[in-house]
Amino acid sequence: MANFDFLVYCSMLLCFCSTFTESIAVNNITRSQFLRDGQTLVSRLGSFELGFFSPGKSKNRYVGIWYMNISVQTLVWVANRKNPLIDSSGVLRIDVSGNLILVNQTNNIFWSSNSSRTAENPVVQLLDSGNLVLQSNLEEENFLWQSFDYPSDTLLPGMKLGWNLKTGLDHRLSSWKSPDDPSPGDLSYGIELYGYPEAVMWKGTEEHFRSGPWNGLRYSGAPELSPNTVFSFTFTDNVEEGSIQSRLVLNQSSSNGGVLQRFTWNGRSSGWQLFLQVPRDYCDTYGLCGAYSNCDTNQSPVCQCLEGFKPKSPANWDSLDWFDGCVRKTPLDCRNRDGFMKFSSLKLPATRQTWVNRSMDLKECKVECLKNCSCTAYAIADVRGSGSGCVLWFGDLIDIRQFPINSATTGQDLFIRVDSSELAAQSDSKRKGKLIATIAATLVMGILLLSCSVWYLWKWKNKIRLEGSEVDNGEQDTVDKSHMDDLELHAFDLATIAMATDNFSVSNKLGEGGFGPVYKGELSNGQEIAVKRLSKNSLQGIDEFKNEVILISKLQHRNLVKVLGCCIEGAETMLIYEYMENKSLDHYIFDEKRSTLLDWEKRLNIVFGIARGLLYLHQDSRLRIIHRDLKASNILLDCNMEPKISDFGMARIFGGDQIEAETNKVVGTYGYMSPEYAIEGLFSVKSDVFSFGVLVLEMVSGKRNRGFYHPEHQLNLLGHAWKLWNDGKSLELIDPLMRDSCVASEVLRCIHVGLLCVQQQMEIRPTMSSVVFMLGSESAVLPDPRQPGFFTERFPTKASSFSSMQHSCSSSNSVTVTLLTGR
Ligand SMILES: *[C@@H]1O[C@H](CO)[C@@H](O)[C@H](O)[C@H]1NC(C)=O
Ligand SMILES: *[C@@H]1O[C@H](CO)[C@@H](O)[C@H](O)[C@H]1NC(C)=O
Ligand SMILES: *[C@@H]1O[C@H](CO)[C@@H](O)[C@H](O)[C@H]1NC(C)=O
Ligand SMILES: *[C@@H]1O[C@H](CO)[C@@H](O)[C@H](O)[C@H]1NC(C)=O
Ligand SMILES: *[C@@H]1O[C@H](CO)[C@@H](O)[C@H](O)[C@H]1NC(C)=O
Ligand SMILES: *[C@@H]1O[C@H](CO)[C@@H](O)[C@H](O)[C@H]1NC(C)=O
Ligand SMILES: *[C@@H]1O[C@H](CO)[C@@H](O)[C@H](O)[C@H]1NC(C)=O
Repeated sequence: MANFDFLVYCSMLLCFCSTFTESIAVNNITRSQFLRDGQTLVSRLGSFELGFFSPGKSKNRYVGIWYMNISVQTLVWVANRKNPLIDSSGVLRIDVSGNLILVNQTNNIFWSSNSSRTAENPVVQLLDSGNLVLQSNLEEENFLWQSFDYPSDTLLPGMKLGWNLKTGLDHRLSSWKSPDDPSPGDLSYGIELYGYPEAVMWKGTEEHFRSGPWNGLRYSGAPELSPNTVFSFTFTDNVEEGSIQSRLVLNQSSSNGGVLQRFTWNGRSSGWQLFLQVPRDYCDTYGLCGAYSNCDTNQSPVCQCLEGFKPKSPANWDSLDWFDGCVRKTPLDCRNRDGFMKFSSLKLPATRQTWVNRSMDLKECKVECLKNCSCTAYAIADVRGSGSGCVLWFGDLIDIRQFPINSATTGQDLFIRVDSSELAAQSDSKRKGKLIATIAATLVMGILLLSCSVWYLWKWKNKIRLEGSEVDNGEQDTVDKSHMDDLELHAFDLATIAMATDNFSVSNKLGEGGFGPVYKGELSNGQEIAVKRLSKNSLQGIDEFKNEVILISKLQHRNLVKVLGCCIEGAETMLIYEYMENKSLDHYIFDEKRSTLLDWEKRLNIVFGIARGLLYLHQDSRLRIIHRDLKASNILLDCNMEPKISDFGMARIFGGDQIEAETNKVVGTYGYMSPEYAIEGLFSVKSDVFSFGVLVLEMVSGKRNRGFYHPEHQLNLLGHAWKLWNDGKSLELIDPLMRDSCVASEVLRCIHVGLLCVQQQMEIRPTMSSVVFMLGSESAVLPDPRQPGFFTERFPTKASSFSSMQHSCSSSNSVTVTLLTGR
C-alpha cells in the first residue's frame, strides 16, 4: 500500500553543525588517491559530502552523496543502489580505463561509472551543486561522466529530467524501495517521449499521475509546479539538438538566504518544510474517471461525463465504478457532420497518442483534425502570447480534470470532436437557459406586483401553496412504476420466507439489531439469504416503506450489502439481503482465535472498504444517507473478506431523512455514538464519521470501545488511544496478535485518522471524502487531533444508566440501544 508522492521540500538550513567530523575528508579521487569506507569526499565550499553509509536499519554499505550541513543525514544520490557491499571493505577508485569503480577487497566490481570515453589524467570531484563529476585533466564543463545524469530519488537544482536523445539517456527519478533499501522502488517520474511530450509518474508499469505536457510556461496538468518565488522549471524540446529535457532552476533572489531544496518522494524528513506535493487530491489519480469524462473536485460525484457524452455502463457508473468511462451520445459519422465543442480550464488529456506541429495556428489545427477520422480533439501547443502551435489527439481522451474556470493561470481550452447535433443541443440549452432566465425575471416582477396588490388573499394563497407542496413531495418520492421492472427487487411472500428460515426458528437466528432480529435462510433454488424482520416502530405507512426499499435497493456499491427484496404482509415487514458467509467484523476482531485470520493488510483493506462505502452513502448516492448505527457487527464480510456495510437504509426507513437534524428518537449503539447525537439527539454525517473512527481504533487494537479495560486507568478505548498518542506511544495500541504483519507507518496513519474522526467537536471532524484521501496518501499532512468525545467510560447524561446496564453484559455482541429522550 505504499503510496509515495512527489514532494518538494525547502529547508532554511537551520543547522550548521557538521556531525560527520570523524571521517577523513578528501578533495578528489585520482589514480593515486582512493576513497575507503570511512573517508569522505567533500565539495569545495562544503555543501555536499560523498562517502559510504548504511541506510536506516540496514547493515549494508552503499556509496552516496548527502548534504554536509544538515545534521540528519539526507541522501541525494546513491551509486550502487542495487548492489550493496556487505562489509566495510569497499574502495572507490579509478580503474585502468579511467572509470570510477567501487570494489571490495577481492576486487569484485559493485558499481562502475561505465563511461565509454577514456580519460587521460582522470580526476573525480564533488561539485557544490551536489554533482559528482569525472573529468580529464580538470577540463571545465567537459565531463566524461556525471552523477546528475543518473538521478536517484532527488532532483537538485540544475539537474535535468527527460531525454538526451544523442546519448539515449533517460533521466528519471525513482523512489527508494524503503527507508532501509535504496534500490529502485515502485515509483518513477520522468518525461515520456509522446508526440506532445509530458511528465508522468509511474507506479510499477502503470501511470499514476501526469504532470501533463509542457505548454510553454509550465506543466499544464500541475499548476503547483508553475514558476514561483522559490523555483521554476525550464523545458527544452529540440529534437534537432537532441534533447527533450526539463531543468529545475532555483530562484536566486530567494536562495541566497540558504534555502536548500529538493524534490523527493522519500517520505517526510525532519528539518525540511514541505513546500508542495503531487498528486494533490483524488482527481489527480490517473484515469480515475475513464474516457471522455471530467474529474471535478467541486462536483459530487467527482466524475462527470463531458457534455455530449453518457456513461458507457450506467449501472457501474451509478455505483461509482467509473473505469468504463463515457461514450458519445451521438456517434461520429466522420463526414461533414462533425464539429468541435470547446471546453475551458481543463487539464489536457493524456498525450500518448498525439501529434504536434508548432507552427500551425488554431484554424489550421481544426482543419488538420477534420482530415483524419481518428482525430478526437485539438488544442494549442504553446500558450505563450496569444498561443500558437497545434496538438491533435487520436483515440480516447482520458485523465481530464477541471480546474477552476476563472483563474487565469490554470487549465487550457480543449476542442473535442462531436456530432453537429450535439453542438445544436448545446446552443439550444444555452438559449433555453437565457429564455428561462428572462421568463423567471418577468415572473418575479409579476409575483411581486401581485402579492403587493392582493395581499389580503394571502391566507387563502398560503393554503393552496401548502397543498401544492404536498403533491410535489409525493411525486418526488414515488418511484416511476414503469421502472419497477428494471429493478432486481423482488417482493417475496411470507410463506416463502417462512419456509426459507424454517419458520423463523431460533437456530436460524443470526443476531439481533436495533431494528429487529436477523435470520439466515435458504430459498428453494439454494440461494442463501439474510432476512431482517423489522420491529414495528417504523413511522411509515406501507406504501412509503415500499418506496423507501425500492430507493435503497438502487444503491449499489461494492461495500454495501445488496438488498434482494422485501416482504410485506399484514403486520410483517421484512428486508431480504444477500447472505455473507464470513459473518460480521466483530466476529473476527474481538475473538482471540479468529482475529489471527485478519492480518494487517486485510484489516487495512477493510478500513478502506468501509470508508468508501460510507462516502458513497454520504455523498455520492442520490439519497444521501446517514447510517446512524455503524458498528463492527454491521460490517459484514464476503468470501474475500471484502467489507460490506449493512443496515444502511434503516435510518431512512425509520423516518430520518434529513441531512442534519435533531431527532427525538436516538437509534444507535453506545460506544459508537457521537456525543452530540447521544446527548442532544443531533445527528449529521459527522456522527457517522465518529462511529467510523471508533471502528478504526477497534480494528487496530482488537478491543471494543465499550467495556474496554486497562489496569492503569479508567479510560475507554478512545481515551486510551488518545493518551498513547499524546505520550508518543501509539504503536502500543496495536493488537498483539497482529504485530508481526503490520506496517508501522500505515498503522500510525490509521490511528491518526481514527483520532481525527472521534474528536469531540463535530465541526473539526473530517468528512468521509477527506478520510478516504488521508488514508490513501502516505504523505498527506494531517492536522493534529484534538480531544476525542466520550473519552471516559462514564458520561454525565441520562444515558449513563444504559451504559452501566450495557457494561454488565458486554461479553456478548454489543447490544443496540434505542433511547427515547424527552424532546
Ligand atoms: C587533489 O587533492 C590533493 C590534496 O588532497 C591536491 O594536492 C591535488 O592538487 C588535487 N588534484 C587535483 C587534480 O585537483
Ligand atoms: C557548511 O559547514 C562548513 C563548516 O561547518 C562551512 O565551512 C561551510 O561554509 C558550510 N557550507 C555551506 C554551503 O553552508
Ligand atoms: C567480494 O564480493 C564478492 C561478490 O559479492 C564475494 O564473493 C567476495 O567474497 C567478496 N570479498 C570479500 C573479501 O568479502
Ligand atoms: C556498462 O556498459 C555496458 C554497455 O555499454 C553494459 O553492458 C554493462 O552492463 C554496463 N555495466 C554497468 C556496471 O553498468
Ligand atoms: C524570485 O523571488 C522573488 C521574491 O522572493 C520574486 O519577486 C521574483 O519574481 C522571483 N523570480 C522568479 C523568476 O520567479
Ligand atoms: C507544420 O505546419 C506548417 C504550416 O501549416 C507546414 O508548413 C509544415 O509542413 C508542417 N510541418 C509538419 C511536420 O507537418
Ligand atoms: C490518422 O491518424 C492516425 C494516427 O496518427 C494514422 O495512423 C492514420 O494513418 C491517419 N489516417 C489518415 C487517413 O491520415
